[in-house]
Amino acid sequence: MTSLSQLSQAIHDAPRWHQPDQFQNPEEIQIVPQQDAALGAVVYGLDARKAQSGETILKLKQALAEHLILIFKNQSLDDLQYLAFTTYFGSIFRPSPDTPVLAAQSDTGVPPDVVPVSNAVGQGDYTGHGELTPHADHQWTPLPSFGSLLYAIEIPKDGGQTTWINTIKAYDALDKETKAHIDQLQLITYNPFVRRQKTKDTANDQGYGSSPFYRFKDQPILSHAYPHPLVRTHPESGRKALWLNTHTEVELVNYDDQVGSELIAKLRAHVQKPEFAYEHNWEVGDIVFWDNQVTLHSRRPFPADQRRLLKRISLAGSRPF
Ligand code: OGA
Ligand code: MN
Repeated sequence: MTSLSQLSQAIHDAPRWHQPDQFQNPEEIQIVPQQDAALGAVVYGLDARKAQSGETILKLKQALAEHLILIFKNQSLDDLQYLAFTTYFGSIFRPSPDTPVLAAQSDTGVPPDVVPVSNAVGQGDYTGHGELTPHADHQWTPLPSFGSLLYAIEIPKDGGQTTWINTIKAYDALDKETKAHIDQLQLITYNPFVRRQKTKDTANDQGYGSSPFYRFKDQPILSHAYPHPLVRTHPESGRKALWLNTHTEVELVNYDDQVGSELIAKLRAHVQKPEFAYEHNWEVGDIVFWDNQVTLHSRRPFPADQRRLLKRISLAGSRPF
């Protein structure tokens, strides 16, 4: 028999509903919306190693669409268990090799299913220990991932908090004229990893951060361009969100570049207002599952000599509309 892929192995090995001690009782689960936070609900009593019922998965999907991030506490998983749990919610994000993303491997051109996000040299140090500016994962690809999960394994004593921004609230808070003006606009987000390859920008290890913020007409186009709506509609809830990262190179389609760059700068300042954000202080065993379609996330820097290891899985998404 040929060997199974990691994902097939995970599902092959996953607990089944007919093993009573490995089956999660839905009544043990509590989903508690965060009070006084811009987004998020905390999930208690769920053991992600266990087989889950339809009732539970449906509740979690509804809670994610409503609260935009779910925080699972006290998990203890290996990579296969993590994959088996995550794929209840969709298939793994696998970009084509012509679209480089974080952790794309030099042989295959695609990232592993479970991406280590760490600062340990050679063990997944794709993002180092610096700040990560607010972004949605894989926004520059033709089919950006609908959601991602980070699972905390080692946490530094200082810094390294992750912040999520509720971009539905950010959109709702815009004035009527701005909403009407931007509702039909298309935005290209250029791939920061292509820029890094082409400009040999080794200082920009993480792929986010040191690119220009807007492409003016006299600047070369470095990557493929996939226009997506600047105002995105959530495919399940129908709610609208401002879908704009804060620091990578973007361009409004068929729009004057000077005026466009000013509009984008204004929207970026708006989306970063503290009232739209929730900062998560990690505890070992946390899994945060977020919706990339209607949130942004960022990370505070932390000391280089303190270890931090999280594991990320991203799920496939659809063409934004
Ligand atoms: C990511 C990411 C944030 C963090 O892995 O996509 O943005 O806190 N990570 O490490
Ligand atoms: Mn990210």
